[in-house]
Amino acid sequence: MKAIEIRNKFLDYFKSKGHSVIPSSPVIPENDPSVLFTTAGMQPLVPYLLGEKHPAGNMLTDYQKCIRTVDIDEVGDNRHLTYFEMLGNWSLGAYFKEEAIGMSYEFLTKVLNIPADKISVTVFAGDEDAPRDTEAEDAWIKAGIPQERIYHFGKDDNWWIAGDEGPCGPDTEMFYDTGKPACSEHCNPSCDCGKYVEIWNNVFMEYYREKDGTYRKLQQKNVDTGLGLERMTMLLQGKETPFDTELFVPTMEKLKELAKADDINSRRIVSDHLRSSMMIICDGGMPSNTDRGYILRRLIRRLTRHLNKLQISIDNFTNVIDITIDNLKEMYPELEQNRTNIHKVISDEQHKFIKTLENGEREFEKAVLRAKQAGEEIIPGTVVFKLYETYGFPLEMTVELAKEQGIKLDASEFDKLFKEHQEKSKMGSENKFKGGLAEQNETTIAYHTATHLLHKALQIVLGEHATQKGSNITTERLRFDFAHPQKVTKEELDKVEEIVNEQIKRDLPVTCEEMTLEEAKARGAMGLFENKYGEKVKVYTIGDFSKEICGGPHVKHTGELGRFKIKKEEASSAGVRRIKAVLIKE
Ligand code: ALA
Repeated sequence: MKAIEIRNKFLDYFKSKGHSVIPSSPVIPENDPSVLFTTAGMQPLVPYLLGEKHPAGNMLTDYQKCIRTVDIDEVGDNRHLTYFEMLGNWSLGAYFKEEAIGMSYEFLTKVLNIPADKISVTVFAGDEDAPRDTEAEDAWIKAGIPQERIYHFGKDDNWWIAGDEGPCGPDTEMFYDTGKPACSEHCNPSCDCGKYVEIWNNVFMEYYREKDGTYRKLQQKNVDTGLGLERMTMLLQGKETPFDTELFVPTMEKLKELAKADDINSRRIVSDHLRSSMMIICDGGMPSNTDRGYILRRLIRRLTRHLNKLQISIDNFTNVIDITIDNLKEMYPELEQNRTNIHKVISDEQHKFIKTLENGEREFEKAVLRAKQAGEEIIPGTVVFKLYETYGFPLEMTVELAKEQGIKLDASEFDKLFKEHQEKSKMGSENKFKGGLAEQNETTIAYHTATHLLHKALQIVLGEHATQKGSNITTERLRFDFAHPQKVTKEELDKVEEIVNEQIKRDLPVTCEEMTLEEAKARGAMGLFENKYGEKVKVYTIGDFSKEICGGPHVKHTGELGRFKIKKEEASSAGVRRIKAVLIKE
């Protein structure tokens, strides 16, 4: 079944159940400067979830164009897309759990004809804020899901909210069993191994989360659902990735035909970023150095770099744009209407960037060569800084190039130079390098310190084996990967959270000393990226709690961090778990 048929069947089904079909809102929110892009179908509906009357009634359905760029650097890994379409149905105080679940089940099994035994579901297990969702569980049993395919999880898995404040509630998620073998005897839908794929989420929005983290009941009980169209299309077609469906195949094929050096990841990145860029441009977006415009700029620049890798010229790329518009215009007539503008915006940005790209890449290659000839596996911070400052080469691109070539960057030296530069020019700096080394602002610095607290707390609760395997910080959250053989239990996570918050409350001083690696080790400093640093290392000490080798920077006192909250715990790879956590300013 093609994506457009799935979309039409969805809207027709909910129409037959008394819902009004409403149009998709733009990906650039109309009246909401607080978010960069629309990330879920419910976002344009917030006022109505809070009680305002919707002109189309209290039962709605639509397809919503969504952009999520938090994981922009993960596109190409075959799972992540920066643009996707979310199908949704809403009850604004009309029906609630039993009806919503009954309709979801009927749509999946009777309209899409998914065999019932391929569906598992998760429901909210209950905690101090809201009770166990027995109503949802009963509704699933009544619909036809046997008890053994109903799983219970806490807020991390079965509670939904957009951001930190707003309408929210327990949710129930539906999973499709791909038939792949279970990764272990504990394998379940919350596992990331690929056996279970989440296909639909029903959120029962009867709460409002206040800024201070407390919950109150909303005046009406709402239902908010979201079904990812690309993923459903992929599953129903038995494809491994969304790039193997008709949504992307013509683009992927054209790129392959034009490429002088084929690389499937680059083709995926170009296909994905082109689609998102086109959608943003259709809704009035323009590349710039701030906020939304900067995301669009990054998307176009990154796709241009990957075109270069594929050895496809900017001039030839116009064919790819045309083929993509032709392929998608039935689903999105706005693409046809904006064809000329899409070409112009993308091409202007590419032409502006191409010289910078070529010069930057050349300089980077020279640096790699110099490092290799000197038997080094690291590029000096001075070179990274020069690329950024003199060549205007986007930092995230240097990071991506280094990753591709398996060479390290001297982050601490770069950070130092960058800071000096910032102070000198008093730029106030845009700091828009999400995920890059230079994204050093108050928020990311706080996350950096929180990461140290988390690392130590994990070792206390889980044992010393729980060492760092990776870390990634954005202004929205921290992400921390660590060695641990099984899922971390709710109790353990609560304990970790408690320990971290305790250290924040103690307002411990954070101090930094330079010493040799041997000395640092002798003093019991934790440190995992030792070979990244030279002889002398920096050791950051947080009161009596933690000592870690690290480039910094950090806050001065842990009291600056706010409240620490774990949002998600999941598998990252074999033997490695991943935690996403946020700091909430009280
Ligand atoms: N708003 C819910 C989600 O995005 C349905 O998953």
